[in-house]
Amino acid sequence: MNEHATMEKVVNLCKRRGFIFPSSEIYGGIGSTWDYGPVGVELKRNVKEAWWKAVVTGRNDTVGLDASILMHPRVWEASGHVAGFSDPLVECKKCNRRYREDFLAEPGQCPDCDGKVTEARQFNLMFKTFMGPVEDTASTVFLRPETAQGIFVNFTNVLDTARQKIPFGIAQIGKSFRNEITPGNFIFRTREFEQMEIEYFVKPGEDEEAFQSWQDARLGWYVDNGIRAENLRLRPHDSDELAHYAKACVDVEYEFPFGWSELEGIANRSDFDLKQHMEYSGKDMTYFDEATRSRYVPYVIEPSAGVDRPLLAFLVDAYDEEEVEGDRRIVLRLDPRLAPFKAGVYPLLRKDGQPERAQEIRDILKEHFPVVYDQAGSIGRRYRRQDEVGTPFGVTVDHETMKDQTVTLRDRDAMTQVRIPVDRLVDEIRRRIDPRTRDR
Ligand code: GLY
Repeated sequence: MNEHATMEKVVNLCKRRGFIFPSSEIYGGIGSTWDYGPVGVELKRNVKEAWWKAVVTGRNDTVGLDASILMHPRVWEASGHVAGFSDPLVECKKCNRRYREDFLAEPGQCPDCDGKVTEARQFNLMFKTFMGPVEDTASTVFLRPETAQGIFVNFTNVLDTARQKIPFGIAQIGKSFRNEITPGNFIFRTREFEQMEIEYFVKPGEDEEAFQSWQDARLGWYVDNGIRAENLRLRPHDSDELAHYAKACVDVEYEFPFGWSELEGIANRSDFDLKQHMEYSGKDMTYFDEATRSRYVPYVIEPSAGVDRPLLAFLVDAYDEEEVEGDRRIVLRLDPRLAPFKAGVYPLLRKDGQPERAQEIRDILKEHFPVVYDQAGSIGRRYRRQDEVGTPFGVTVDHETMKDQTVTLRDRDAMTQVRIPVDRLVDEIRRRIDPRTRDR
């Protein structure tokens, strides 16, 4: 666990520096929904980009998809979500607050007023809404509770167009919605959230091997993007916690300040979903294996990650505090590839043409990666502001720049500075961002 990071410190930093704000704050907020601010949105884009690169563009056996949130209601009957996607809900007989039964610290007892709670009833987590101008049962649709079904219903469309042979995967990133009984822990458990999901289709009998290799690949992704390995673990599900579609599941967990919690579930969904959709739609979704000249329904391995949960883990793991010359420095040691901005550009003084030259350099760098310009306050304060959002490099224009076209390049973590010519800046920053050429 990262001993410097408490949830309170991370939440405060997120608000103070523009990562994440409470939704609808001017109206008092709305429970457990959050908005990504100017800095947070860049981090989120980078997390999604790192995932897409690792599982789609960086592989030869995966393709992407972007399916709609609203789907035919029969999808959710076929998938089993109408009948089985529920949590046990209890209500306090004294204060009437509602809880998820399996989240109660003391069985049968209200955590707020110590009253007795009711017997549990199953509460379906799907959000319902109406499609079109008539609000009746015939027009009821659901906000998708997982992106996965958009992939299953497009299985034959992708197969017919993407020229892939099994084994191959379909990946997508998108919003999902679950009417959680007990949301909480900042962006960890929310009712609206984003997922990054892969459905990897394999021949039955080859599923165990793919299940194992995706566990290794996915755990490795978190480490490769900067999370310390000792704060990650794989945890197999007990049979009584498996989702209704899963034959087996292993969670990638991170040790948050509130304990070990799931970032991603890697499930063996067998042929459950495709078979269900074949039955409910009447369409053939079998795969023709040219080698054996026979048809089968593929098995599916599903690495299913959130976006918000890994993002929170990247923030928590990167959070650090240290004493620097009698001052406390807060620094986010984010991997440079994930950092919202790659460099801050600063004039040392607001005179002698330094601001104008620094803005010219900002514009040169901006062609290549996101940068910020800051001329407000002492140079030390400006470095600290960017340390807090994880900006890995600082470029300072000073009186020497005006004479010899060199600038200082500061490293966020070591706080060392080197002088380099302006015309080498882009290459040098690029080299330091690239993990293959980074100084370790
Ligand atoms: N598709 C798996 C999940 O959303 O949990």
